[in-house]
Amino acid sequence: MTYIPNSIEARDVASLVHMQTNLRTHQRQGPDVIVRGEGCRVFDDSGREYIDATAGLWCASLGFGSERLAKVAYEQMRNLGYYHLYRHRSNEPAIALAETLLELAPVPMARVVFQCSGSEANDTAIKLAWYYWNAVGKPQRSKIIARRMAYHGSTCAAVSLSGKPDMHAGFGLPFAPFKHTEFPHYYRRHEPGETQEEFSARMAEALETLIQAEGADTIAAFFAEPVMGAGGAILPPRGYFERIQAVLRKYDILFVADEVICGFARTGEMWGCQTFGIRPDMVTSAKALSAAMQPISAVLVSERIHAAMLAQSDKFGNFAHGYTYAGHPVAAAVALEVQKIYAEIDIVGRAKRLGAVLQSALGRLKAHPLVGDVQGVGLILGMELMRDGEGRIPFDAALNVGARVEAAAKRHGLLIRVVGDRLVFAPPLVIEAAEIEDVGQRLERALDDVAQDLGCEGALR
Ligand SMILES: Cc1ncc(COP(=O)(O)O)c(C=O)c1O
Repeated sequence: MTYIPNSIEARDVASLVHMQTNLRTHQRQGPDVIVRGEGCRVFDDSGREYIDATAGLWCASLGFGSERLAKVAYEQMRNLGYYHLYRHRSNEPAIALAETLLELAPVPMARVVFQCSGSEANDTAIKLAWYYWNAVGKPQRSKIIARRMAYHGSTCAAVSLSGKPDMHAGFGLPFAPFKHTEFPHYYRRHEPGETQEEFSARMAEALETLIQAEGADTIAAFFAEPVMGAGGAILPPRGYFERIQAVLRKYDILFVADEVICGFARTGEMWGCQTFGIRPDMVTSAKALSAAMQPISAVLVSERIHAAMLAQSDKFGNFAHGYTYAGHPVAAAVALEVQKIYAEIDIVGRAKRLGAVLQSALGRLKAHPLVGDVQGVGLILGMELMRDGEGRIPFDAALNVGARVEAAAKRHGLLIRVVGDRLVFAPPLVIEAAEIEDVGQRLERALDDVAQDLGCEGALR
């Protein structure tokens, strides 16, 4: 494709590297330039309107523009546009936000460590797990277990933790200490007749087998998202976290809950940990923490971890870790205001109420010939496309059915996330019931278009 000289498309292609994008295709295809946002809707540079049903990257919890948050950022920049947390320095917004997070924490937590992204939060939590075991005299506990298909970020350690082979390929990753166990995709992976509870028991056995094979006294921590987001909005089956936690307790392995997507009401409770009965040693959080209006993330550490951190300061004279922008006053002030908004609009009650609408509006599409399964909780939902839903027979991967539905949805003004043939929905938490119905209708039209094409190609049952 030749671009009009100096057009925004030409400038983009000539200057930017896009993440999670086929860079070669991008040279030909060019960008979709989003110029404006309003509530759950975004508008491109040709004026086309879309409902973004994954809140950008599962993060724009309050939608895509806010006068109120803009004012907070403006005032904070005028008053104190930057200060750090190094060498005993502090700033008020960071202190107030840390206090708020400790009040909200899903289990009692002792302190908050700030960073700027979900990846950095998980990186920090990995370092803190190592720091903890060093502090208590067990430095050999250096391996970290996560799950296949998990996504925990893109920094070298966080992507090693992630269980997505496509994100390791070509980078020489994952690093050796990172091990991966089964992921609990009940619909796709259960044996005929196997109940959710039995499947969960099998997942816990697989974890225990891995722990024993590696040697329990070499394992530092287990990381898990309450609902696996980028893996495809995969819900834990009944009894899963109960059994997994029993195994972790048996071998005294730390549990880090990655709440980067689930935190702040996504699952219908403030934290995914509350929805699924998880009692973590650390929690990592980002995205909806600041409604994605500012880059900020937090690690909440329990008393057990904090006590070890203090002991390490006695030993080394310093907590030798940090980021220039950690606890940035502008990001913290915005995140604090976001937390005020959540309290004012009763974000948890809202997510429960609107979650029920989402589950029913998209759940209805289970009857559609392309849809095999629909599963969700609160305002997150995964929809599996299958050639035969009952028989759990997938489409031939070469048909790219998921990508086709994504493209068709876009033509109907709906932005969705696709993971293989799984469609993922996590709209802004401020979405209205009528907008959810609109999402359902736009999606149905997209599914109908693709079903018709597949029918013509003889690719349906
Ligand atoms: C569960 C989870 N953890 C961590 C991350 C990484 O966050 P960031 O992109 O802010 O580094 C993501 C990003 O999507 C995520 O979904």
